[in-house]
Amino acid sequence: MKPFSESCEQNRAPILEVLREAFGGRRNVLEIASGTGQHAVYFGQALPHLRWQTSELPHNHAGILAWLDEAKLVNVLPPLDLDVNAASWPQASFDAVFNANTVHILAWAAVERLFSGIGQVLQSDGIVCMYGPFNYGGQFTSESNRGFDAWLKSRDPDSGVRDFEAIDRLAAAQGLRLVRDVAMPSNNRTLIWQRSP
Ligand SMILES: C[S@@+](CC[C@H](N)C(=O)[O-])C[C@H]1O[C@@H](n2cnc3c(N)ncnc32)[C@H](O)[C@@H]1O
Repeated sequence: MKPFSESCEQNRAPILEVLREAFGGRRNVLEIASGTGQHAVYFGQALPHLRWQTSELPHNHAGILAWLDEAKLVNVLPPLDLDVNAASWPQASFDAVFNANTVHILAWAAVERLFSGIGQVLQSDGIVCMYGPFNYGGQFTSESNRGFDAWLKSRDPDSGVRDFEAIDRLAAAQGLRLVRDVAMPSNNRTLIWQRSP
């Protein structure tokens, strides 16, 4: 049976509107932590000019493949086995990276490895879009994000809503310059960086 994420159903349309513009001139997207595969199918169908490469930890591959088998999209590719902590990342290069709802799940050391991995696979001039909740100036932007953070930490003390400024520093260390920070429904953001050519 296909896995199902209600939050993907809720956030996919607003994210698509951002990606239409951000990925308008892109060809090869690496999605990191594809989750159920719902985003990949929805964005791949709506943006057929993109070759959308999914990736995930191995235990989630069957679910993604179930979505891909049903959708039969030639531009959405089966998942790479990509653990952001891995020493070696795919030997491929991409002109765009998409990631949603992951940096608050990962321990900080893994967030650092995520960005250094992005630095390895992203072409010069490449774009990164990252969707999720972020804090600004050390403050939660809503009570619901504060509650979400407490829930995350009750499950895993190393997880939690990340500070935009700390994330942006990791991006800057990979030559990524913030070009947009888009307010999204439910107190989420889409951060868009571009690498210096
Ligand atoms: C909250 S889910 C988000 C999934 C999807 N991007 C979405 O928005 O629905 C976080 C994802 O991060 C993945 N993940 C956790 N640790 C990871 C790691 N070390 N490397 C790669 N992915 C990881 C999980 O398997 C999970 O699918």
